[in-house]
Amino acid sequence: MAVIADRCPYVQVTVVDLNAERIAAWNESDLSRLPVYEPGLDAVVARTRGQNLHFSTEVDAAIAEADMVFISVNTPTKTRGVGAGQASDLRWVEACARQVAQSAQGHTIVVEKSTLPVRTAEAIQAILAASQQQFAKKSTGNNDSQRTFAVLSNPEFLAEGTAIADLEDPDRVLIGGLDPQAIEALAEIYSSWVSPERILRTNLWSSELSKLTANAFLAQRISSINAIAALCEATEADVREVARAIGADTRIGSKFLKAGPGFGGSCFQKDILNLVYLCRHFGLDEVANYWESVVTLNTWQQHRISRNVVQRLFGTVSGKRIAVLGFAFKANTNDTRESPAIRICRDLLEEGAQLAIHDPKVDALRIASDLGQSDLSTGPNGTYLNAKVGEGGWLPSSSVHDACMGADAAVLLTDWDQFQELNWAELAHGMRHPAWVFDTRGVVDAAAVQAAGLQLWQLGRGMY
Ligand code: UGA
Repeated sequence: MAVIADRCPYVQVTVVDLNAERIAAWNESDLSRLPVYEPGLDAVVARTRGQNLHFSTEVDAAIAEADMVFISVNTPTKTRGVGAGQASDLRWVEACARQVAQSAQGHTIVVEKSTLPVRTAEAIQAILAASQQQFAKKSTGNNDSQRTFAVLSNPEFLAEGTAIADLEDPDRVLIGGLDPQAIEALAEIYSSWVSPERILRTNLWSSELSKLTANAFLAQRISSINAIAALCEATEADVREVARAIGADTRIGSKFLKAGPGFGGSCFQKDILNLVYLCRHFGLDEVANYWESVVTLNTWQQHRISRNVVQRLFGTVSGKRIAVLGFAFKANTNDTRESPAIRICRDLLEEGAQLAIHDPKVDALRIASDLGQSDLSTGPNGTYLNAKVGEGGWLPSSSVHDACMGADAAVLLTDWDQFQELNWAELAHGMRHPAWVFDTRGVVDAAAVQAAGLQLWQLGRGMY
């Protein structure tokens, strides 16, 4: 929405939320403290906020004034009831549709921005149509009764960490709908900065399904290369060389072929499980099993890494200090949702390790909650104290150096740029030898690690 405001100065954008604390945070004058860390977002907000970008809790008033409403709420995986563990929980989408139905005036285009299962637009349309009829009945003969709605699907394809660039120069914008006028109204907004051949128009259902399919294909590529990484380790092949060789084939393409600790983030797993649920619902069990295996392999990859660490440290990490470098699910974000680090750290804690975790952007309290060890309190000088240090406990470290002090191993889990340039000679000095480096992202300078007298294991390559 900030980018739309930036690129379309003639459009007034109001972002509304029921959560007053969140809205206050988006109105925070210190732009370095916006609730989401995303490179370049602060500059866009600085240019637009108070001009044509507004953050407010006045939900009904904003809906009443709007020509277009984007439903952009979370759709987590259901945790109970029918489809628990796979289907999307659509309660917030439904609540939004009802609120729009109640407060809209005149003609309103309702745009699904959240990622949704196929045919969700039907439910939104039904809620809006019921309210339209009810309203028309109540106000017969009154001119105000002209309330009409059109529903569009406009899924988002940005990736975290590169969101602003992805939005400013998208591969494509997808608009699905059944009402040509509504489609053109939304296309006009994007055409302020996106070239016409990149604005794709489809029917509603193709658009909804394309979003799930895009994420399923992307995640499938990661599980495919991770599967080959395991085979590389067993055969002295190098997964980076294999990725380069296959990526040179233009039919395969070179992007999204980095082997790693498994995909994380709020979308891939959720969307695939949603797809799996849909396939089962339609009796397509083989198709469901096919896509489910992408998630199964991802989970296996994460457990495989923790098992490997334990095995190499002579079969036990009990009481051993392990430095964990990176906790976010990828670089350039402070997001930890479904981060591979969570499962890997939990496994190591279960084995009795003592973890010293450093991430340049992730807050210690976030890590505490992800690990289910929230007994973290603030000590003198803003340092953290954990009631459960020692075996099976963890502490946040403010630097890689602190994390590695006294450690038997450093496990690198996020591809932060700064991890490529670590001074291993200095770090090795403070570690307990024989000491290991487990590089799950293939980013460390292998020669420097070895020259420092450390044992190096790299994912997709094995021991050096
Ligand atoms: C993903 C998609 O890339 C976006 O197109 C989509 O819009 C978004 O989900 C969404 O549905 O909201 P995102 O989760 O932000 O974006 O991040 P990605 O760059 O896709 O990375 C996902 C995970 O895959 C990360 O854990 C990353 O480290 C991992 N990954 C990615 C690899 O292990 N190897 C790769 O080659 C690429």
